[in-house]
Order: sequence, then structure tokens, then C-alpha cells
Amino acid sequence: MKNSYSNIFTFNKKILKKTIKNLNNGSIVGLPTETVYGLGGNAYQKKPILNIFNLKNRPKTNPLIIHYYNQTSALKDVEINKHFKKLYRKFCPGPITFVLKRKISSKIHPLACAGFNTVAIRFPKHKVIRSVLKKIDFPLAMPSANKSTNVSPVNSLDVFEEFKKKISIILEGGKCKVGIESTVVDLTNHPVILRPGVINKNELEKTLKLKLKNMKIYQNKKSPGMMRKHYSPGIPVKINQKKHDGTSAYIYIGKKYKHKRDFFNLSENFNLNEAASNLYRIFRLIKKKGFKKIQIDKIPKVGSGIAINDRIKRASES
Ligand code: TXA
Ligand code: MG
Repeated sequence: MKNSYSNIFTFNKKILKKTIKNLNNGSIVGLPTETVYGLGGNAYQKKPILNIFNLKNRPKTNPLIIHYYNQTSALKDVEINKHFKKLYRKFCPGPITFVLKRKISSKIHPLACAGFNTVAIRFPKHKVIRSVLKKIDFPLAMPSANKSTNVSPVNSLDVFEEFKKKISIILEGGKCKVGIESTVVDLTNHPVILRPGVINKNELEKTLKLKLKNMKIYQNKKSPGMMRKHYSPGIPVKINQKKHDGTSAYIYIGKKYKHKRDFFNLSENFNLNEAASNLYRIFRLIKKKGFKKIQIDKIPKVGSGIAINDRIKRASES
């Protein structure tokens, strides 16, 4: 069934078939995952990869995450290790991405990995993307479905807003439950988090039974996508704000400004997972309402709060 936006489709068998046909032919499609919506294409072909970089206006030095149905399907492309096995068992499918050594025999197009000899792989949980991955015999290169530096989309309409009719299929998958991008962890040496997410450092350390390295020294060199200015809602953002300036949209957590105009609540109960899931939705909402600036309250730097602080810090870089 077609939605009123003619390229957003409710998920059913017929559209699944068409999606698979398009992916086989080298087209790219908008797909929901549990974190954010992605722009997916056949990772073994050059045309869809080039298309993804061009549509997003993404620097070709920034590699894409490759998405698989399960561990078995990823084995032909990467060398796995004991850390991967532990984390896979505990968290997959789920919102975590692993950087691993690329196998020489891997057919992933080099452009997708920006020429790196590593590959970032992920096993998304959302049932729509899993239905697609199950039916194809190639993995999907899939960055978030937004123009480079913009906020990632968490609804099908956000994807439409980014690319309009430039992609022929956007699959409806509802609002993304996690709402921010996956945790990226480099497992090629001693494990290190390259991008924080809702699967946090403590959980990884507990599962791996070791201390993770501090990510800061690695950032730009190891994960080119972790640019300072990123995840921008397109208007100035100020973080760690104590007082509303009277005109900006003010984002906060807790109950203190309940029902006040111009105030946007991430989570009444200080639930940081809920806060993460609301962040990008609220950024887009504020922009649509025509505010010229955003102020953000202090967000606790624990659990998913670390990932939230990472994203809002980058959003605030101008
Ligand atoms: O939740 C997610 O991960 C979403 C959904 C769609 O799966 N995808 C996503 O992709 O956020 P993207 O392209 O927006 O972010 C990919 C991140 C970038 O920071 C990139 O630099 C990093 O992963 N990355 C990809 N390949 C890498 C590699 N070989 N080594 C280090 N970092 C890599
Ligand atoms: Mg992205």
C-alpha cells in the first residue's frame, strides 16, 4: 500500500519483493533499523556505493557500515576474533557495530570501506531490515539516511525530507526505538569505542572482562566519520545551558519545565535511553517550528548520557 508520500511504502510481501529486486539491480533504498533509518545498497557493487556517497554528499574518505543478517553471512568478508564472538553473542542483533580486519577474498567494494583494510559490520535488529537481509545474498552498505552533517532520520518522513523522490523506495518501519546511531567498537587491536551509543562502555567492559581504551586519541584518525561538526540540526546549538534566554528552543531532561512553551522534554523520569530516542526527533521538530537557536540543559554523563553528550557536543560545533 502506498502512503500519501508516493515513495514511502508500508511493509508487506509485495514491497519486500520489489525492494529486493531494486537492491539486486544496484538501486538504493531507505530502510528502517532500530537505531536510525539507513540508505542501503549492495555492498559488492560500485554503482550503489557511489550513489550513496553522492546523494549524501559524503566525503569518500568516510567508510560505510556493512549490514548482515547474521555472523555466518559476515564470515566471508571479515576476520572475526574472540572479542567479536563475545559481543556478538551478547548484543546481536542489536545497536552495535564492529570494526574488524577485512579478508583479502572479501568482495565488498573498496569504495565502501574508503580503501581501509578494515570493515565496520553490523547486525541490525529491526524486523523490516532483517526481512530484507534474510532474502538477499549480499550485505548492505548503509549509512544513516541523511545528508552528510545533518541529523540522522528516525522516521520515514525524515528520510523523505532529506532526499524527497531521489530514492524510489522508503520502507515504513515506525519511529526508531533507539533513536541514535549504533555504538562503534574497533576490535582490530585492544577494543576501543570509536562512537558511543546506547550499548555503553560499562556493558562492553563487563562482557569482555577488560578495560576499554580511551576513545579520544583515536577519534579522527581511526573513524573518519567522527567529525567535530556533525549531527547538526541546521541552527546554532548551545549546550550545558542553565537558563532559558527567552527566545531559543530549550531542551531539557526531568520535570522542571513541564508544559512551558518553547521547552522540549527528552525524558521526564531521567531515563537516558528514552532521552536518546527523543533527541533527533526533537531537533527536527524544533527546526520545523521555526526556532532560530537551541539551548540544551546539562545532560548527565552516565550510561546513554555519554552518547547523548557526544551528539549534542558535535551538534554545537559551528
Ligand atoms: O546505527 C547505525 O550505525 C546507522 C544505521 C543505519 O545502521 N548507520 C550509521 O552509519 O550510523 P554512518 O555511515 O552514518 O556512520 C558510520 C560510522 C562513521 O563514523 C564511520 O567513520 C565509521 O562508522 N566507520 C565505518 N567504517 C569504518 C572503519 N572501517 N573503521 C572505522 N570506522 C568506520
Ligand atoms: Mg551518519
